[in-house]
Amino acid sequence: MKVLNVVGARPNFMKIAPIVEEMKKAPDLEGILVHTGQHYDEGMSDVFFRDLGIPVPDVHLGVGSGTHAEQTARIMVEFEKVCVQQKPGLVVVVGDVNSTMACSIVAAKLRIPVAHVEAGLRSFDRTMPEEINRLVTDALADLLFTTSADADENLKHEGVDAKKIHFVGNVMIDTLLKHRAKAEALRVDKPKQYALVTLHRPSNVDDPNVLRPILEALEEISRSIPVIFPIHPRTAKRVSEFGLSLNGIRTIDPLGYLEFLNLESTATVVLSDSGGLQEETTILGVPCLTLRHNTERPVTITHGTNLMVGPDKTRILDAFRRVMSGEWKPGGPPELWDGHAAERIVRVIRDISGR
Ligand code: UD1
Ligand code: UDP
Repeated sequence: MKVLNVVGARPNFMKIAPIVEEMKKAPDLEGILVHTGQHYDEGMSDVFFRDLGIPVPDVHLGVGSGTHAEQTARIMVEFEKVCVQQKPGLVVVVGDVNSTMACSIVAAKLRIPVAHVEAGLRSFDRTMPEEINRLVTDALADLLFTTSADADENLKHEGVDAKKIHFVGNVMIDTLLKHRAKAEALRVDKPKQYALVTLHRPSNVDDPNVLRPILEALEEISRSIPVIFPIHPRTAKRVSEFGLSLNGIRTIDPLGYLEFLNLESTATVVLSDSGGLQEETTILGVPCLTLRHNTERPVTITHGTNLMVGPDKTRILDAFRRVMSGEWKPGGPPELWDGHAAERIVRVIRDISGR
């Protein structure tokens, strides 16, 4: 069976890598990698192919940036041509970015089965573009691969047939466990103690009245320990547009996977609004302050080191002080976050394709 594996934006690359690798071992599956080009900077895309050993995409749609409708529509137009030409038996999409939703819609309308990896996560906040992408993708998917029991419950509540849901674990953690030793062995020039920051959610960075107090909190933290901030292009653009100060904060370009994982694994604390970082810090045992009001990944709070502090200066600084005084929960791995999720996924796909 021919399978189109879709990637588009940074967090997709670490999710698809173990699936592509596992599919290569299956003689009955032909994996074809499609990159939509949603992310295109060297540091937001190509570096991950090198770091994670992902093969060069077989097809590159080159869609680039735009409004939600522009980007989604461009992906759909280009991906439809690929589907018509390649006639795949399955389309695999990962995560919750625009590329995930756009390719699911195209495949579903061409009656090509869709597998969604990381299905069922819900923040219950439809102001997040990702929540819309998750809802639409899961409504259309024929195979729903989940990372946690709460995701299974969410899907069942939405009326998804239990036979379509497969609790397989977390492919992002497959990648982390595979590359951790290599990342930690890198020689990276870094302070002994430091806070590692990433920010890119529109709700935080597109509004100066939300972004300013976050940056003020980071400046305050930088008086205690260095603050290292690999800055996402969306955020860099906004900081400059709004004329905000980054005093005291060490901003750097976005990092490749291995270098970033090196910094993440020995950080004193991570402050972020990323989805993936909540999961990675849970496995690394690093305190994570999530600068959001909600999370679609509640196991990182119940099992992990994550605390929801919101984009609130006082709460960020209170939590930071608690980390510095050593008061933090230890965290432990959620069920099946064991490095074998991609094996389970490919096993299910092979079973189904053989029927
Ligand atoms: C996207 C995803 C988000 C994910 C994030 C990961 C959607 C709706 N959002 O957000 O879920 O968490 O990626 O990083 O799919 N830009 C560049 N170079 C690039 C890519 C983007 O300069 O390689 C700039 C452009 O100005 C662009 C802006 O960043 O307009 C936003 O990019 P976009 O892909 O629309 O959304 P992200 O904020 O990156
Ligand atoms: N990441 C990276 N370099 C960076 C910032 C993040 O390699 O400079 C990795 C991070 O370790 C994780 C993934 O990118 O594996 C998370 O992606 P992102 O935060 O962009 O998206 P989200 O998870 O919020 O969808």
